[in-house]
Amino acid sequence: MANDVTQPLLEVKDLHTRFHTHRGIVQAVNGISFGIREGELVGLVGETGCGKSVTARSVLGLVRPPGRIAEGRITYDGIDLRSLSRREFRKLRGTGISFVPQNPWGALNPILRIERQFRNVIRAHTDASRQECWDMSLAMLQKVGIQGPERILKGYAHQLSGGMAQRVVMAIALVLNPRLVIADEPTTGLDVTIQRQILDMVMQLLEEERRAMLLVTHDLGVVAQYCHRVIVMYAGKIVEEGPVSEVFVEPAHPYTQALLAAIPRPGHKLVSLRGRVPSLIDYPAGCPFHDRCDFAFEPCSAEEPLLCELSTGRRSACHLSKGVSELDAR
Ligand SMILES: Nc1ncnc2c1ncn2[C@@H]1O[C@H](COP(=O)(O)OP(=O)(O)OP(=O)(O)O)[C@@H](O)[C@H]1O
Ligand SMILES: [Mg+2]
Repeated sequence: MANDVTQPLLEVKDLHTRFHTHRGIVQAVNGISFGIREGELVGLVGETGCGKSVTARSVLGLVRPPGRIAEGRITYDGIDLRSLSRREFRKLRGTGISFVPQNPWGALNPILRIERQFRNVIRAHTDASRQECWDMSLAMLQKVGIQGPERILKGYAHQLSGGMAQRVVMAIALVLNPRLVIADEPTTGLDVTIQRQILDMVMQLLEEERRAMLLVTHDLGVVAQYCHRVIVMYAGKIVEEGPVSEVFVEPAHPYTQALLAAIPRPGHKLVSLRGRVPSLIDYPAGCPFHDRCDFAFEPCSAEEPLLCELSTGRRSACHLSKGVSELDAR
């Protein structure tokens, strides 16, 4: 487990990412702050449309018009990521921060052998020989559970099954041993058993090698099993955050309580919560969750609760849970 006193490897402060659409401005990410320390595995959860992918893409410099980061600071290992050019960002990917997208087919080149795709990534950062690239690729494919990796390296993307393609994409993302991996629902769309096999493999690997990860997922079981910390997003904001061992046992926010109560069968989306996420164009007054909350009382529809620290590393934004910082302020 990561050491509590170390500086975060990744630090996001007051991030606002908006999409300018003909219907209005979508406040997809609305003032979030969090950090990820070296070696820490962090789960990012919340219903569909809550801003998880936009958060991941903002960190990775992948927000494109009509979207833009309107405000906020994102630092990785002391580097201000918002000041990087696309080229500098590409340089950072692979060894610094690497990305595992949801759709492996979009990440693989259909006309290059898999071997060549590994080599391109390795050679963008090192001067490894062809043989060294081959050996590194082979070893990495074995680590993600691919048997007969020689055959895979010599083949093309279209020869792979969905599960195999996702393993290959992960192996390419991990081959240079990045310090931080950002994965956005990396196994969605695959058979449930295969999803779990792949995640088991990758999470164990990252844990062993003390890599940090931000895992965007709907699978709370995976978060419970592998992540050190969990961040819960709702309507573009963080509503709860803390160590998995605490949040899953005693969730502070009614939204987290509802999510945990609605834990779906593995691999299924969270569907059984009453009501819907509010429009991110006309952001509601008060707490964004108030009209779905069983515990809502007078202030909830009028005043937005601040995200307060309940205990070290534990935060919640709810009028019912008074944080130590708020109490101290009195
Ligand atoms: N290109 C875009 N143009 C306009 N709005 C967008 C765009 N991309 C995302 N959004 C909006 O930003 C909000 C957050 O979307 P995001 O994709 O981050 O949700 P998510 O939490 O990843 O959901 P899911 O679990 O379904 O992947 C949503 O309201 C979405 O409609
Ligand atoms: Mg998403």
